[in-house]
Amino acid sequence: MEEKIEQLKQEAANAVKQAVASIGDLNDIRVKYLGKKGELTTILRGLGQLSKEDRPRIGQIVNEARQQLEQLIAEKNEELRSAELQKRLGSEKIDVTLAGRRPARGHLHPLTLTLMEIKDIFMRMGFSVEEGPEIEKDYYNFEALNLPKDHPARDMQDSFYITEDILMRSQTSPVQARTMENHEPNSPIRMIAPGRVYRRDDYDATHSPMFTQIEGMVIDKGISLADLKGTLETFLKQIFGEKVKVRLRPSFFPFTEPSAEVDISCVMCKGAGCRVCKGTGWLEILGAGMIHPNVLRMSGYDPEKVSGFAFGMGVERITMLRYGIDDLRLFYDNDLRFLKQF
Ligand code: DAH
Repeated sequence: MEEKIEQLKQEAANAVKQAVASIGDLNDIRVKYLGKKGELTTILRGLGQLSKEDRPRIGQIVNEARQQLEQLIAEKNEELRSAELQKRLGSEKIDVTLAGRRPARGHLHPLTLTLMEIKDIFMRMGFSVEEGPEIEKDYYNFEALNLPKDHPARDMQDSFYITEDILMRSQTSPVQARTMENHEPNSPIRMIAPGRVYRRDDYDATHSPMFTQIEGMVIDKGISLADLKGTLETFLKQIFGEKVKVRLRPSFFPFTEPSAEVDISCVMCKGAGCRVCKGTGWLEILGAGMIHPNVLRMSGYDPEKVSGFAFGMGVERITMLRYGIDDLRLFYDNDLRFLKQF
């Protein structure tokens, strides 16, 4: 019996010394010799079958063997753990002296910047900012603007239709009728409406089938062309500088009467004449006019009681002139070399 125990002890001790590559292996050894069904445990269990004289002696030997083995395993365990720790410390080393990496940080798009500035200027003049849907009813996009079906002026805005009566809005002007409908008839309105518009158009340096507009509308008692000119001049001087000159040229829009194209003195050559203004010294910047009586009437306003003006402008064009950008497509290309300059 003593020999058997000694032999097991040696065997286990060797196993601990050699075989061990990880803490998992060590556990296997513990189970094999010391576990519930382990070999040394089995001997301990069998003590009852021994004679009274042998029992205490053998018991003591087995227990000593168990204790020694426990001790060995504990030491080995400690050894393995610190080895593993050293290994991890070696591989996961971080260099705290290394320079930090700056996270890439974006910024607002040039069109957004211009839009924010335009909104700021009009909000300071007491305008509200309204919104309308990009998928619009034919009624709001055309009819409510005095463009009945088959009106020839619809051709100026070759449009994306979804059904007979629904289209991608070709202008922000439909927000005029929508805003009037949201108000008590004849109550004053001072609003701008920014947003995307869609037309079947070329895609070149100055055109895109999708672009951004800002609509403006003022209605109150006794609003005149003088209010229109004063408001637009105030706005344009804030955007392009105090020195900029503004002129109105007669024009036609079905929803305004009279209608005007609004020009500013060329921001590139200050009016002397250059390639950008095609030698004229003037740049066309927006369309405007006094709201047509039909337009007021169709949305429940009474042209005998109130009058108003409206205007619409392209945000891309204004942004191009402000920053000297010569190709509109740059706004949509998402080329960081371009965008980073703003
Ligand atoms: N909706 C016109 C366009 O897209 C722009 C415009 C012109 C809007 C005159 C107006 C206006 O409100 O009065 O070409």
